[in-house]
Amino acid sequence: NFFERGIEDSAVAYQFVKVINDEADRMTRLVNDLLELSRLDNKEVKWNKRPLKIDLLVGEVVSKMMMSAKKKGLSVRCEIEENLEVFADRDKMEQVFQNVLSNAIKYTSEGGRIFVKGEKAGNQVCVSVEDTGIGIPKEDLPRIFERFYRVDKTRSRELGGTGLGLSIAREIVLAHDGDIEVQSEPGKGTVVIIKLPALV
Ligand SMILES: Nc1ncnc2c1ncn2[C@@H]1O[C@H](COP(=O)(O)OP(=O)(O)O)[C@@H](O)[C@H]1O
Ligand SMILES: [Mg+2]
Repeated sequence: NFFERGIEDSAVAYQFVKVINDEADRMTRLVNDLLELSRLDNKEVKWNKRPLKIDLLVGEVVSKMMMSAKKKGLSVRCEIEENLEVFADRDKMEQVFQNVLSNAIKYTSEGGRIFVKGEKAGNQVCVSVEDTGIGIPKEDLPRIFERFYRVDKTRSRELGGTGLGLSIAREIVLAHDGDIEVQSEPGKGTVVIIKLPALV
């Protein structure tokens, strides 16, 4: 069987260890995401809301994710106004932007572009993450914030997601009296828009 072959052949063993490792990572992400959602559901989250310069936070998240974007040959452009202040939980907001940016990277193929924009619009701070990726079919759009919902089950599995990232992002944004919205065109790309009340 496979395991016996793995003992004899180190190249085969390497493949096994890689699969086991990837699956363990996936399981960890799934457990963490489920825990997070259940805490949000049960209102167990202790929000640590403070005045937060979202321009700086988004900039940080973008920098952190630059490596994985570069690896895929994606160009990332950032136009974020300064002094975009909101009243928010820093760690949770970081999670929101990390989820949305990782989707943009994950669902955009080699050579694509990602554009992150941040601006104040009236009494709201508006951050959008736009990509030139695979896009989302019209019929799937209303469902992508549902738990475990993924457009392409096989591919999403390959790409290591849990299908919970956007659900979590939405819960967090709503808990800040904000709004998250997705526009997309299959084959062209996707834009995720996050709006939060500006701190005045
Ligand atoms: N930027 C994007 N481009 C194309 N499809 C996306 C994008 N963001 C999210 N999706 C679709 O929405 C689904 C749900 O997203 P998410 O909750 O983050 O789950 P996943 O773990 O699969 O990334 C994804 O599986 C994918 O089909
Ligand atoms: Mg995701």
